[in-house]
Amino acid sequence: MFYDDAGFRLFERITTLPEYYPCRTERQLLEEHAENIVMSACGSARRLRIVELGAGSACKTHILLAAALRQGIEVIYMPLDVSADALETACESIAEAFPPVRVLPQVVNYVSAPPQLSPFIGPTLALYLGSSIGNFKPCESRTILRNLGTQLKADDSFLLGTDLVKEESTLIAAYDDSQGVTAAFNLNILMRLNRELGSNFDVNAFRHSVRWNADESRIEMHLQSIRRQVVEIPLAELELHLDKDETIHTENSYKFDDDALRTLLSQTSFRWELMWKDPQQWYALTLSRKAAYA
Ligand SMILES: C[S@@+](CC[C@H](N)C(=O)[O-])C[C@H]1O[C@@H](n2cnc3c(N)ncnc32)[C@H](O)[C@@H]1O
Repeated sequence: MFYDDAGFRLFERITTLPEYYPCRTERQLLEEHAENIVMSACGSARRLRIVELGAGSACKTHILLAAALRQGIEVIYMPLDVSADALETACESIAEAFPPVRVLPQVVNYVSAPPQLSPFIGPTLALYLGSSIGNFKPCESRTILRNLGTQLKADDSFLLGTDLVKEESTLIAAYDDSQGVTAAFNLNILMRLNRELGSNFDVNAFRHSVRWNADESRIEMHLQSIRRQVVEIPLAELELHLDKDETIHTENSYKFDDDALRTLLSQTSFRWELMWKDPQQWYALTLSRKAAYA
C-alpha cells in the first residue's frame, strides 16, 4: 500500500534524510565489499545473473553491477518490484550507466506470487536489500526466503541487507524525521485508500506516530486519530469507528541481531558465509549460499 507513485517518490526522499542511516550505511558497505561479493558469487564463472527482490530504483545495485563489469563479467539483471514506476526508473538508469547489462524487469508481488525464475546456466546472486525483510513478520520472512530458495541452485548466493538493533533514540529518529517526510509517506496511505477504495479519510485528522516495540524487536509506524471519528471505506465494505488517540498500525520494521539472522537463514535453506557490518554495528550485509540439501 505504501508504494504507489507518490509513495515511491517519498521513499526516495527518505533515503536521503540525515536521520535515515540504513540506506547510506548499506551503500557504504556495498562500496567497500562489492568486488568481494561479486567474486564470491561468481567463482570461476564469467557470467552472473543478479535477481533483486523489491529492487525499487536499484540505485545501490549500480555498485554491484559496476564491480561485475570491472571484472569482465557478463551480467543479466532481473529487478522484481510491485511498482512499475520504480522498475521504469531502475531500467532507465541502468541502460544509461551500464549499456552491456541485459535487464529483465518483472512487475510482481513477491509475497502473493513467489518469484518464478527461469533455469540459468551459471551462478545467480539474489539480492534483498534495504532491510525490506524487516517489514515482514518472522513467519512471513521465512516464507519469502523459502520461496526464493526454491528458485536457486545449490551454492547460488544470496545477499541480505538488514538493519540491526541499536539505541532507541536513533531508531525512532530514522522513522520520525524532522522534515516530516516519513510522516507524509505514512499519511499517503490514506490518500491512496480515498482514491482507490472511495474512502473518506480526513488526512488532517491523523498524525504519524512511531514506537519501538522491544519485545518484538521492531519499530512500528502508526496513524493516530486526533479525534473520535467514523470513516467509510465503501469498496472494502468497512465502517471504521476510531476513538481519539486510537491508531491504525501501518508498518513494522524488525531489527535484527546475529542470532536472529543465523536462525532465519538456517531455517530457510541458506548457509551463512560472510557478514559485513559498519564500524557502529548499525547495519549488516550477509552473504549466504543456497544449501545443497534443501
Ligand atoms: C524500502 S524500498 C527498498 C528499495 C531498494 N531495495 C533499496 O534498498 O533502496 C522497498 C521496495 O520494495 C517494493 N516492494 C514492497 N513490497 C513488495 C512486494 N510484496 N513485492 C514486490 N515488491 C515490493 C516497493 O515497491 C519498493 O520499491
